[in-house]
Amino acid sequence: MLIKAEGITMDFGGFKAVSDASLSVERGEIVGLIGPNGAGKSTFFNCLVGDLRPTQGQVWFDGVDLTNATPEEHARRGIGRTFQLPATFEDMSILENVMVGAFLRHPRTQDATQAAHEILELTGLSGLASQKARSLGTPGRKRLEIARVLATQPKLMLLDEALAGLTPVEVQRAIDLVRRIHKTGVTIVIVEHIMEVILSLTDRVLVFNQGRVIASGVAADVVNDPAVIEAYLGRPRTRTRGGTP
Ligand SMILES: Nc1ncnc2c1ncn2[C@@H]1O[C@H](COP(=O)(O)OP(=O)(O)OP(=O)(O)O)[C@@H](O)[C@H]1O
Ligand SMILES: [Mg+2]
Repeated sequence: MLIKAEGITMDFGGFKAVSDASLSVERGEIVGLIGPNGAGKSTFFNCLVGDLRPTQGQVWFDGVDLTNATPEEHARRGIGRTFQLPATFEDMSILENVMVGAFLRHPRTQDATQAAHEILELTGLSGLASQKARSLGTPGRKRLEIARVLATQPKLMLLDEALAGLTPVEVQRAIDLVRRIHKTGVTIVIVEHIMEVILSLTDRVLVFNQGRVIASGVAADVVNDPAVIEAYLGRPRTRTRGGTP
């Protein structure tokens, strides 16, 4: 087991954004987290990476209890996460942005530069290395966010809507990139609203609704689960016979 989170609850002054949620991921898996807006997916991620200390529950990573560890300790142990809103350094070059990640494993500038160049190659950003991050559009920004995290050499990558806002063609390129990253040996947990991404990338999914895990299993099965359909639509799907209801 690479990561095991058990009974995670995050209580914001009486409001439970996450309630008794558990997740175990084996090395080499790609697991999806889905659920409607506000279901608690990002909050759950925050609890896994040390950005929030869960009110209840425990997080073990690679055999170590990281429940109360700092975000830096999580990163050092090998958990990397992308932010739903990319955390880009706008006035720094794209190379320098990736170097911020690379410095975690390579304290010497020369080594960090070389490592960052390798990541830019892998993520298809090499041609833009010297440009300022502020020059990037959404697809480039999403790619840079992945590159910066990848430069920390994570064992586990948590992708929080890293493909949101892309055109269908760009989504396909991003799916290819995630597959490439996975092939290098990185385990992946991905939050995504784009069903095509979830169906084509994940081995299995967990469905969140109102802070709770309400279903889990292979994505193609889970999306037909009545409880899941109800969570998304707010009511069970009913068949209508011809015409508009
Ligand atoms: N720091 C906070 N303080 C209080 N409430 C919060 C805080 N962070 C998140 N919430 C609330 O917790 C709930 C879950 O939010 P979260 O961002 O985890 O949902 P999500 O599943 O990631 O949604 P989306 O798909 O829209 O990104 C929301 O109602 C949100 O307003
Ligand atoms: Mg979110």
